[in-house]
Amino acid sequence: MPAELPPELVDPIQAHPEFNETGSKIAVAGHPIHAMLVAFPVALAFCTFGADGFYWLTGELFWARAALWASGMAFLIGVLAGISGTVELLMVPGIRRRAASWSHFIFAMMLLSVLGANWGYRLDGYEQAVLPWGILVSALAAGATALTGWHGGKLVFDYQIGTSSKGR
Ligand code: HEM
Repeated sequence: MPAELPPELVDPIQAHPEFNETGSKIAVAGHPIHAMLVAFPVALAFCTFGADGFYWLTGELFWARAALWASGMAFLIGVLAGISGTVELLMVPGIRRRAASWSHFIFAMMLLSVLGANWGYRLDGYEQAVLPWGILVSALAAGATALTGWHGGKLVFDYQIGTSSKGR
């Protein structure tokens, strides 16, 4: 007598009726605010690293000041982006249920800590802060930004998170 077939294997997370509810709720006319904000910390984190590099090459005070402003704005706008992303994560069931969203949250929290440290360290004397620690923290921030940004893109382009498109 043949053995009984096992019931069909299903992934309980993917089988959940809310799994494909991934449309953004923190949005302006359907365009996610998080996606609009993240461009700023991403660009400013790399600008900080660039400004530190130019200060190292030229010794011009201007570049140390530019790095102070770029690192501060990267952190502050990064926090705003993080708030909009976190509200989205908690409010949208299909985003909340995916492990990838939580991985992005963890990467982003590490990134925000590094961005905050990079700015805070400079507040006590922005010129002396650049070499060697400022530029080293900036390099770390640029790497963490690349990782977090790439992963955020993966959420959107691989899993269609935050999009309302049904492939029409
Ligand atoms: C702190 C908590 C964060 C959470 C919970 C979060 C969550 C999300 C979510 C749910 C998306 C999908 C799009 C959407 O629904 O808006 C996304 C996309 C993205 N995130 Fe985050 N995020 C966080 C912080 C950050 C930070 C600090 C950065 C980088 C500075 C970042 C970079 C990105 C990028 C580049 C995308 C893709 C945007 C696109 O191409 O449209 N995220 N994030």
